[in-house]
Amino acid sequence: MYANILTDISKDFNLTPDNLKEIASCARYEIEQSLSNNPTSLKMLKSYIGLPSGLETGEYLALDFGGTNLRVVLLELLGNGEYKIIKKVAKPLKFPGLYDFISADSTAAELFDFIAATIDEAIAGNHDKKYYLGHTFSFPSSQTNIYNAKLITWTKEFATTGVEGQIVNDLLKEALQRQGFSNVEPIAVINDTVAVLLAAAYKSADTYIGSIYATGHNTCYFESNFNDDTKPMIINLEIGGFSKLAINKYDAMLDENSELPGQQRLEKMVSGRYIGELFAYCLQQGLKLKTLPQFTSIDLSNIINDNSAELTAIQELLKNTLNLTLAIEDLNAVQNLAAAIVSRSARIVAATYCGILWHIFPNAIPKHNIVIDGSVFEKMPTVNRNMHESLQQILTDESDKISLTLENGGSILGAALAAAMSK
Ligand code: BGC
Repeated sequence: MYANILTDISKDFNLTPDNLKEIASCARYEIEQSLSNNPTSLKMLKSYIGLPSGLETGEYLALDFGGTNLRVVLLELLGNGEYKIIKKVAKPLKFPGLYDFISADSTAAELFDFIAATIDEAIAGNHDKKYYLGHTFSFPSSQTNIYNAKLITWTKEFATTGVEGQIVNDLLKEALQRQGFSNVEPIAVINDTVAVLLAAAYKSADTYIGSIYATGHNTCYFESNFNDDTKPMIINLEIGGFSKLAINKYDAMLDENSELPGQQRLEKMVSGRYIGELFAYCLQQGLKLKTLPQFTSIDLSNIINDNSAELTAIQELLKNTLNLTLAIEDLNAVQNLAAAIVSRSARIVAATYCGILWHIFPNAIPKHNIVIDGSVFEKMPTVNRNMHESLQQILTDESDKISLTLENGGSILGAALAAAMSK
């Protein structure tokens, strides 16, 4: 009954090899235009940090802020890519019914007091010893040195008031003081993509591209050749803002109802925060539902993973969320739709990697490892395969030289490295 319309909707998520090549070329073009100071959809934010030597050592506090959980870790860098975790504290940023520090109802002071209290827990209330803190802050921030990152705009539907336009480490310092301790000194702020790249480069040289494919999506790379006398450093592309993409009706609906209409176009087509919602808009249309249902990227994962003959997991999910029982051909079409959304996501992400590779290696691409952290890359079925297929379609024979590697926990190690490198 619904299979045909769902199948038609799935086709709107199709990308041909030519489409992919065009995305890759446009990404490269925008990077190079930005380096020449021409306006593009990429923010191309300077990080004021280069690559680690691998020899960094010492004890540091690492703060990871930007996903669903806040994490503070005390760790010791041992050099040669090695490190040891001493203490780890993780807290959700929102707890239904109790608190929500990332909604517009919360203030900067409330949020940063919560962060400061979590830091206090990680140092077990020790207010005497000196700690240097590296901060992975996973939002677009402009900076003129490694310390003074100023939040340009929230993304991923974060909305806490009073943070945009502020130097986040100043807010943190003020909160630490309010909590009554000043022995913790925030000294470096980096984006999570930069953290992932630092973490990977600590262990192996010649690593130049780091990416996050999770709730949000973004990529950074090491730029060694600025047009002016800027010294080599990592650039946070904020590729989630890339706008040279054909959007379909469902992308448009999601965008209109988001916190930042017209912005983060690419991120809204690929990242974990949005693909479940995109699926919801499609189902609303395909199943002619009166209201917008709620689905997450985890639902998409479960739908794609349902290998049962009767597609019982999908049937159950639709029964529970929509009170609908569908015929097997309709369930099949629902599964194909979920797969189409995920496949488009993975193929777009891989296409942007090709644009970056072409920019870094304009003559011939050498053997190269792109490091990626994030649950969508790690856990979403078909993502890895689709990314490799996309690389193959764009780079043809050269794609064999590219590996995509999971860099788990890079945000923490990277924050500690940033602190070590800037101390
Ligand atoms: C932010 C990026 C971040 C990415 C992954 C995006 O929404 O704009 O700064 O790197 O999410 O966390």
